[in-house]
Amino acid sequence: MEGATLADQAAAEGLHIPRHIAVVMDGNGRWAQQRGLPRLAGHIEGRKATKRFVQASAELGVEVVSLYAFSTENWSRPQAEVEGLLALIENSLREELRELDEADVVFRASGRLSQLPQSLQEMLAAGRKATADNQGLTLNLCLNYGGRAEIVDAARAVATAVHGGELEPQDIGENDFARHLYAPELPDVELLLRPGGEMRVSNFLLWEIAYAELVVLDVLWPDFEREHLLEALRIFTRRERRFGGVPQSIS
Ligand code: FPP
Repeated sequence: MEGATLADQAAAEGLHIPRHIAVVMDGNGRWAQQRGLPRLAGHIEGRKATKRFVQASAELGVEVVSLYAFSTENWSRPQAEVEGLLALIENSLREELRELDEADVVFRASGRLSQLPQSLQEMLAAGRKATADNQGLTLNLCLNYGGRAEIVDAARAVATAVHGGELEPQDIGENDFARHLYAPELPDVELLLRPGGEMRVSNFLLWEIAYAELVVLDVLWPDFEREHLLEALRIFTRRERRFGGVPQSIS
């Protein structure tokens, strides 16, 4: 379909568009290694793929994308890579914020943000403030993020509520718990997308992916193009979602 927009193409193929896509942006290191480049070069190229992905998701009408940019485990990488990656993320946000705002994107971050460098924390807060009133795609950037850490943080908040007499332990339901996650206002993840070929969840959004479809593609993140997103949506559309019950159509 030459000249057709991405949304036209998705509609013509009858593709289901998930409300919330979470991405484990994997393969930057391998991309660099294959070219004899430092790993950071892979992250720099990965940034371009991130931009393509966010643009394409917005065009398709996806409501939320959550991007795994830095995990609680990533601190164990060599110091130069950690510093380079965090600086890249901060600079990217500084450079892209105006465009994100013009595209009506709502920017937010999830993770143990208070352990990040001060200048990055300030940039995240500025990004959030500048885009808070927008109405388009929500970009949930996961930084110093760990799924178990998020659950522990929520458990602490629930325990505090119990301690303060606001809640009885026997009354704690899933919703009371979920209210204390990092981004309780976001819908559950419907599609967990992992480029790079690894069949792992890697501690990403453990609570939120409870019923997500996992789609693994054999393309490294820096090589991820719009066509790969369409491919993931084709796979997603073909899947039958049961939610533990009887077969039902996806929408
Ligand atoms: C995993 O690849 C990737 C990361 C830990 C970082 C992701 C960061 C970016 C894509 C940079 C830009 C992001 C933003 C939001 C501007 P890996 O290094 O584990 O790759 P490997 O599995 O091939 O070693």
